[in-house]
Amino acid sequence: MAGFRCNGAEFRLDQAGDRVLADVLREDLGLTGTKIGCGTGDCGACTVLLDGSPVNSCLVYAVECAGSEVQTVEGVSHSGTGQVLAEELAAAGAVQCGICTSGLLVMAVSLLEADPAPDRAGIETALSGNLCRCTGYLAIVRAVEAAAGRLADEREAG
Ligand code: FES
Ligand code: FES
Repeated sequence: MAGFRCNGAEFRLDQAGDRVLADVLREDLGLTGTKIGCGTGDCGACTVLLDGSPVNSCLVYAVECAGSEVQTVEGVSHSGTGQVLAEELAAAGAVQCGICTSGLLVMAVSLLEADPAPDRAGIETALSGNLCRCTGYLAIVRAVEAAAGRLADEREAG
């Protein structure tokens, strides 16, 4: 059976069976940064990038990813955007229990790579599928705004 690429490395899907991507990432690849909150596509905790687009990995069968590129929070955290976002989320107090954080980070990286200067409404819309029980969301939105500002400053400084 074909495999898929995850965070730049090749993996086979022989043992995937009928499991969803979130389970294969966590159980077979040891990528436990991807969290499972609801398992029904409602919370966004399991968000990963599939061929560059955010998906709920609890709703995607792993075998559907054959030939595709998956990026998990472990992968995006190494990008410049991911590092700045992680720092700003921590600084803003937007990381409390942490269940939502990986999915939020992946979604926010996807947002800032598509739109480096989103307004507040754009951030809220982009993150509307990522539920957080702890923070009340304002700290998260402010962290994304701060990250966008820092990244713009870095680009300007060249
Ligand atoms: S665990 Fe996948 S959306 Fe909640
Ligand atoms: S920090 Fe707990 S769910 Fe968001």
